[in-house]
Amino acid sequence: METRETITKVLVEITGVKDLKLDVPENSEFGDYSSNVAMTTFENAKTQIPNAKWGNPGQYAQELAEKLKNDDKLMAVVEKIEIAGLGFINFFLKKENLIQNLEKINTVPEKYGCSSIGTGKTVVIDYSAPNIAKRFSIGHLRSTIIGQALYNIYNFLGYKTIGDNHLGDWGTQFGKLLYMIKRESVPDFDIEKLERLYVAFHEEAAKNPEIENEARNWFKKLEEGDKEAREIWEKCKDISLSEFNRIYSRLGVEIDYAYGESFYEDKMKDLVAGFENGQLKGLEIGEDGAKIIDLREFGINVPLMFLKSDGTTTYATRDLATLDLRQKKWNPQIIIYEVGAEQTLHFSQVFAAGKKLGLVSDEVVLHHTKHGLYLGTDGKKFRTRSGSTVKLEEVLDEAVEKAKKIISKSETSRGFSKEEVNKLSEVVGIGAIKYFDLMHAPQSDIVFDWDKVVNMEGNSGPYLQYTFARTQSVIAKAKNTNHEIVKKIGEINSDELSVLRHLVHFPEVVAEAGEKYAPNLICNYLYELAKRYNSFYNSTKIIGGENEPFDLSLTSATGTVLKSGLSLLGIQAPDKM
Ligand code: ARG
Repeated sequence: METRETITKVLVEITGVKDLKLDVPENSEFGDYSSNVAMTTFENAKTQIPNAKWGNPGQYAQELAEKLKNDDKLMAVVEKIEIAGLGFINFFLKKENLIQNLEKINTVPEKYGCSSIGTGKTVVIDYSAPNIAKRFSIGHLRSTIIGQALYNIYNFLGYKTIGDNHLGDWGTQFGKLLYMIKRESVPDFDIEKLERLYVAFHEEAAKNPEIENEARNWFKKLEEGDKEAREIWEKCKDISLSEFNRIYSRLGVEIDYAYGESFYEDKMKDLVAGFENGQLKGLEIGEDGAKIIDLREFGINVPLMFLKSDGTTTYATRDLATLDLRQKKWNPQIIIYEVGAEQTLHFSQVFAAGKKLGLVSDEVVLHHTKHGLYLGTDGKKFRTRSGSTVKLEEVLDEAVEKAKKIISKSETSRGFSKEEVNKLSEVVGIGAIKYFDLMHAPQSDIVFDWDKVVNMEGNSGPYLQYTFARTQSVIAKAKNTNHEIVKKIGEINSDELSVLRHLVHFPEVVAEAGEKYAPNLICNYLYELAKRYNSFYNSTKIIGGENEPFDLSLTSATGTVLKSGLSLLGIQAPDKM
């Protein structure tokens, strides 16, 4: 049994509190695990044991600790138990236990941290989802990076994981484009041209709202299968996809499915038919003849627009059809929508309507991550140096350029060919962007500060990659190559111990990151590991030192965990940097 489970189990037995969860103290002076159960259940315990000797949570904690110390199973893994603050019970693990864990990491490195909590369960992750005929925006970058990290994490936790890129390739915006393309008789176009036409449409519509009708007609034609409308639409789609694919390959992202909104044309008709034949219930006629789904019973005052008054579908109609398909095709336990916070109302409507119509059962978890925005250092909208709107590729290029500067300064790079430097710069630059995004909680806005993105001294992708490369160079220099099992261990100093103790928590951090949809927890963990390793590295003579076999083993395990963690974040870890 895992150490954490052992402690939890004994604590549950002793307190009778079932849903008990151990904490990992931020400061390891307070132990490897900690419980606040004495404080949270003190009042209740007092009523149950009227003539107890203890009169406050601290004393209650003390009493529990005494009982814990009598448990052999527990004391086989715990070295000491301390009471701190108003009644925290802090557990310190035995060194042998920590060392066993180290050996576990080094014997099956690629498995450390993975688990079977997801076995038999399926999660669908809806991410990236850029819009056809528009450039890949920085918002879609967030969705791509966070979505991919969640995908990797769930996969590692044993879930069957399905990624679906819900491309925005359908909707009234195509009516607008079709109208403009036809009117201006544009023979050829690229994404930029399409974007300009779209902007021009809106400028004109502000003065002349008539053209909105024209656009609606064109979308209706598209939905009805008009040949010309379809051909132009196909062309828009091809052009966009080739640009998106270039970006995906640069980001190293591959998404299992990309059905996209247009795929749901027929499926939407099935839903409409379902309402007509009475299988689905709850469609009402709204004010202007639109068909709506009332959601007030869910506390949502804005009804979901299922069909507009002219009978055309909406973004929400497509999301309902998508939900229906996902449920039928994959029967998932969780569906995660990695989409910005600006769509909060939309997803609350879709989730509520999905449950109201019975498209998914109540047990299915529908989660909208609500990611925040990128902001400039002035706190306003993020802009590049060169222009007003942010072009994603310019950001990536700039990151790679900055990475190249760092690499060119490093000693190791002296032996690198120009080609190697370029390749490495790409890995470090892209890694820096991904890490900078992921180190923030998804919901928070991100102030885009280049100094922090490539900061070699602090919490950044390059810093972690560099620390990983450091572990690899130590191991490469060592003659002693067998670090799996450490036969001889000398006195363990406090820097060694600090790394050793942190390594234990990787598996539970991965699990928590999945449970809370929070890849940033993995970033925090890895940063702490790198800091601890670097202070150990700076204070300790590893090769030829007193404790060489153990220190190499520690180095090797640190490398393993850094690499696994980075790979969960979708970041490569080069051996040399
Ligand atoms: N294409 C949409 C947008 O850019 C995001 C789609 C998100 N996924 C979904 N199932 N609605 O706003």
